[in-house]
Amino acid sequence: MASDEQTETPLYDKFSAKTYLKSNYSVGADGIPDSHEDWLPWLLNNLKDTFAGGKLSGKRLLDVGTGPAIHNLISAARVFPNITCAEYCQENREEVEKWVRGEEDAFDWAPFIKYVCGLEGDSDWEARQVALRDAIKHVVFCDVREERPLGTFDGGPYDVVSSMFLLSTVGKDRADFDEILSKLGSLVKPGGTLVLVCDLEATHYTDGRVSYPLITLDAPYVRQAVRNCGFKDVQDDILFFRSTEGMNWDGTSYIYLTARKCAE
Ligand SMILES: C[S@@+](CC[C@H](N)C(=O)[O-])C[C@H]1O[C@@H](n2cnc3c(N)ncnc32)[C@H](O)[C@@H]1O
Repeated sequence: MASDEQTETPLYDKFSAKTYLKSNYSVGADGIPDSHEDWLPWLLNNLKDTFAGGKLSGKRLLDVGTGPAIHNLISAARVFPNITCAEYCQENREEVEKWVRGEEDAFDWAPFIKYVCGLEGDSDWEARQVALRDAIKHVVFCDVREERPLGTFDGGPYDVVSSMFLLSTVGKDRADFDEILSKLGSLVKPGGTLVLVCDLEATHYTDGRVSYPLITLDAPYVRQAVRNCGFKDVQDDILFFRSTEGMNWDGTSYIYLTARKCAE
């Protein structure tokens, strides 16, 4: 699918939480998240550095486009005791809620929590699991195309807003990207932090059943777009893939970016 085709979020009504989790979030026999060219260890290490670095303060974090996945909140929950997961697709929200309630058929994130504990030098992964479940206070509907993405849910502004692999999946072009980024940026408190992960140079990905178009982005563009939304101290780390064979995705790299919102 070409990147300039109209992107319709309703495509995400067909999103299968279970298929997505199975194809993206498995763990090898060695207990290490099993991912193409180790992108998951790369991501979890970056999140550990961001949240265990002692530089962020506050209580409340908003994760936008959480999907059915909570791995990117493991390090965050150590610092932020009040987390809101905002997601468009009901099946994804239900999957997160099931995990928070500890239901039997929920996805098993324990290997990811153990892995992150290993990175952080924390031996009590079970306590971290309890703390993460406790920290996820809200799982809410969100549509980032709307003027007020969280609708009547009034939780903002937040100390941290994070969003992984969402921004390039919504909208049809860079103007849409800028607009959605600006809405997310407005949910961050002055002095607060934005944490973003985006695909670079990609036109689509597929979950094996449905192909999702992506806005084609490059790192300089993303950095400048973040600055244009009133952020400074933009820092990033790029993971370049040597090969994308078998990834069902046609990009070149992922960018992990953090930035601090300028004081008003
Ligand atoms: C590629 S998935 C990323 C999920 C998760 N953050 C991760 O890292 O695995 C993109 C997510 O964005 C959600 N999404 C799509 N359109 C959206 C919209 N308009 N508003 C909010 N979320 C949306 C999808 O339902 C999906 O869960």
